[in-house]
Amino acid sequence: MSEGGAHAGFAHGRRLRSTPAMRRWTAQTRLAPADLVLPVFVKQDLVDPVPIRSMPGVVQHSLDSLRKAAHEAAEAGISGLMLFGIPAEKDAVGSQADAADGIVNVALQQLRADLGDELVLMADLCLCEYTDHGHCGVLTPARGGARGQGGGLVVDNDPTLDRYASVAVAQAQAGAHVVAPSGMMDGQIAAIRAGLDSAGFTETPILAYAAKYASGFYGPFREAAEGAPQFGDRSTYQMDPPNADEALREVAQDLAEGADAVMVKPALPYLDIVARVADAVDVPVSAYQVSGEYAMVEAAAANGWVDRQRAILETLTAIRRAGAGSVLTYGAVEAARWLR
Ligand code: PBG
Repeated sequence: MSEGGAHAGFAHGRRLRSTPAMRRWTAQTRLAPADLVLPVFVKQDLVDPVPIRSMPGVVQHSLDSLRKAAHEAAEAGISGLMLFGIPAEKDAVGSQADAADGIVNVALQQLRADLGDELVLMADLCLCEYTDHGHCGVLTPARGGARGQGGGLVVDNDPTLDRYASVAVAQAQAGAHVVAPSGMMDGQIAAIRAGLDSAGFTETPILAYAAKYASGFYGPFREAAEGAPQFGDRSTYQMDPPNADEALREVAQDLAEGADAVMVKPALPYLDIVARVADAVDVPVSAYQVSGEYAMVEAAAANGWVDRQRAILETLTAIRRAGAGSVLTYGAVEAARWLR
């Protein structure tokens, strides 16, 4: 013990925690509606929205219910929407993803007409919701060492890039402010940038799902987006969960190819990745609190095992604290209302 008293020379954390006002004054991380982005699902031919069983409070929207939800999102003060489309017809190459009258492109047109530039309209750019086999790219017979998982078929990286470029142009044409490729094909950012530029969309930014892991937390999403792979899984193109340095390489590669902003996904199980990416880059960093993360909190809260509001706000704050500037979450609108 030192001479000046039992605690002289030590910091006393409690002095700055004594009241809510004191804690507000000293809070290092703040969470505001503008930090949040809402992922939404719109399904072709729906008249009424359909609840998603594994994600309480989340629906597959009809075009009309989506427009209403978008107005509510704007009113709540969040920054944007991430759109996912579910077509009535799927085929091997995901034709509905870049059809001008494909569901997601019609939805983008309507939302852009309704809202102008009030929200940032982001379009998830992938093929898995649009292909009958549920993979994120087109397929080819396996060559060389790889056996493939479904009758010897594997995802064919380079032909998929042409599809992505075409989807990007269709989405930009329909009114997307941002395209967000999530398929984890090598070279996708360069291909999409070239496609957008040659179609005159030089001002459309690309938000790259740069570090996207082959995660067990996407389960409920696959019910929502009806895009579960019909054979095998995504572990040959999405990142392997044990790897961290590789995330920085993926991010650096996407930035070199022309990405304007990057994303880490999932969020909570990968906060170390969020922190490292945020340290490493000087572009906006998003993190995606995915369907399984959302479902876990909802399930625990429904059982009375956690305080729902407290748990949700704590997860979102933690993701911001790790360094994400923006968080995609299915609870964006509700959380924004709490924060107002
Ligand atoms: C499409 C895509 C997925 C998610 C976002 N974009 C599914 C997947 O990769 O299997 C998951 C989102 C979530 O779980 O909330 N490639």
